[in-house]
Amino acid sequence: MKLVVVGSGLAGLLVAIEASESIADAEVTLVTKGSLLESNTAWAQGGVAVVGPQPDTVVSHVTDTRRAGAGLSDPAAAMALAADGPTAIDRLLELGVTFDREGGVLCRALEAAHSHPRVLRAGGDATGAEIVRALVVALNDRAVTVLEHTHAIDVELRDRAGAASEVAGLLVRTPAGDVERLDADAVVLATGGAGQLYATTTNPAVATADGVAIALRAGAEVADLEMVQFHPTVLAGEHPFLVSEAVRGEGAVLLDDAGRRFMVDVHPDAELAPRDVVARAIAGQEARQGSPVMLDATRLGAAAIAQRFPTIVAACAERGLDITTQPVPVTPAAHYWMGGVRTDLAGRTSVPGLWAAGEVACTGVHGANRLASNSLLEAAVFARRTVVALAEAAATGPRAAAPSGGAWTAAAPLDLEDGPGAADWDRAQLQDLLWEYAGLTRDADGLARAAHVLAGFATPSLLPDAMFGLQARDVEDANLLLAARALVAAAAARADSLGAHTRRDSLPVGADLAADTQHHVLVAPLR
Ligand code: SIN
Repeated sequence: MKLVVVGSGLAGLLVAIEASESIADAEVTLVTKGSLLESNTAWAQGGVAVVGPQPDTVVSHVTDTRRAGAGLSDPAAAMALAADGPTAIDRLLELGVTFDREGGVLCRALEAAHSHPRVLRAGGDATGAEIVRALVVALNDRAVTVLEHTHAIDVELRDRAGAASEVAGLLVRTPAGDVERLDADAVVLATGGAGQLYATTTNPAVATADGVAIALRAGAEVADLEMVQFHPTVLAGEHPFLVSEAVRGEGAVLLDDAGRRFMVDVHPDAELAPRDVVARAIAGQEARQGSPVMLDATRLGAAAIAQRFPTIVAACAERGLDITTQPVPVTPAAHYWMGGVRTDLAGRTSVPGLWAAGEVACTGVHGANRLASNSLLEAAVFARRTVVALAEAAATGPRAAAPSGGAWTAAAPLDLEDGPGAADWDRAQLQDLLWEYAGLTRDADGLARAAHVLAGFATPSLLPDAMFGLQARDVEDANLLLAARALVAAAAARADSLGAHTRRDSLPVGADLAADTQHHVLVAPLR
C-alpha cells in the first residue's frame, strides 16, 4: 500500500510510525508544510487526559467527556477514547515519551470538568513538545519518507465503475513552488486545526484549516464545524500566549476589576467549569468592565509556579509580567475545532481511501465542547485505530465510512465552483470577520453578514504561475476561505445554542447526555 500522511502533529507522526511497522509492504510518506516540529501538538501545554487508578474509571472519563460535550458527543466514540486511552499512553511511553513522575508514579493533574486528576504532563507545562521530540526520534528510525516544507494541495480521485471515486494520489506544492503528484492508495489527513480562522488564537501559524478544505474539495462530508472551542485564558495583549487550564486546576482564580472571583456567581465549579462557560463568562465580564480580567496564581506560591509552569512563567516574563507574584491579564482565544472531517471510529471518511485523524477529524468524541486535554489522547487513540483499519484496507481495498448514528441536519450545500466573488482580501479581514460574527457568540444576522462578505472574496488560484510558481500563502488562504464559508454555513444551520455554539438569538437547549436527542450539522459540497 502507498500511504501518504499529511501533517506532523501527534496524529500524523503516530500514523506514520505505526503504519511503517504494522502494514506489510507499506510505502509510507509523511508530508508536512512546515518542519516536523511545527504543529499544535508541539505547543500543547496542559497534557493528556487518560483514566487513572481507582477511584477513576473509564465510565467516569466517558461521562465527563459527554457532559463537557453537552450531550453531542457520540457515546461510542467517547467510550473508544477512554477505553483505548491507557494502551495508547503505554505505546507513547514505549516510543520514548517521558511524562512527569513523582516517586516513580505518573503525575496526574486535575483540569476543568474532570471528576478526577487524570491529566499526564511532561516538563511541567511542555507536554506537546516532549511528545513531538520523542515521536520525531522514533520516526527517524522508521522507513518513512519525510517531505518537510511541502504543502498538500488536493487529493486526486479516480473513478470506479459503479462505485464511489477513490483516492489515487495527492497533489503537493514543493518547497520550490512546483506542483507534484504523489501516488497514493490512501491519504491520511492529520493536518490539525484552524485557529488561524480567527483574529486571536492559541494556535501556531500553520493551523490554517487545510485538511477540512482538502476534504471538501474531494467531496467529503464535514461535521460539527460550528463547534469551535475558545480557550478562556491567553495572555491579553499583542502577543497572545496560552495560560494552561492546569494553572486553574492547581488553584489559580479569575478576578474582576474589583478583585472579586466572578466565576463563583456563574457556575458551581467556578474557574473549573467547562471551557465554553468560563470563556463566555470572561468575555461578558470584559465587556462590562472594559478591560481584561485577571488570573491570579499567586496563591500557589512563587516557587511552586516556577517549578510547575516554567514555559508560562517564561512567556509572561517576555511580556514584562511576573505570574509568580502578580495577577496577569487574560482573555479568550480560538483554540480547538471540535468539528472537522466526518470519520467513523477507524478514521475512514465518506470518500474511499481518504482518512482523517487528530484535530482535523470529527470522530464524534468532543461533541459541542472538548473536555480539557482530551485532544492529545484522541489523536493517539484514533491514529492507532486508523492504522488497524488501514492494514485491513491494504488487504481488502478502501471503503467509505458507514453512515453513523445520530440525527443529521444538512447545511446548505457548499458551491465550490461558484461561491466566491472577485474582491481582493487579506487574511486579517477574514479573521476579524469570523471573530466578530462567528466567534464566542453568534446570531442569524451576523452569520448572514459573514456569509455575504465571504462570498465576495476571491479564491486564490491553486494553479502554479509560470513565473512565480504557487505561493504557499495562497494555498493556505484558499483553504481558510473555504473552511470559513463552511463554518459559517454550519453555524447558520444550527439555530439552537449548544456547548461552544452560543446563539444570542436563541435560548440554550441545555446539555442532555441522551445523545440521540441532539443533532449534528453536516456540510457537504454541492455535487
Ligand atoms: C491547556 O493546557 O489549557 C490546553 C490543553 C487543552 O486544550 O486541552
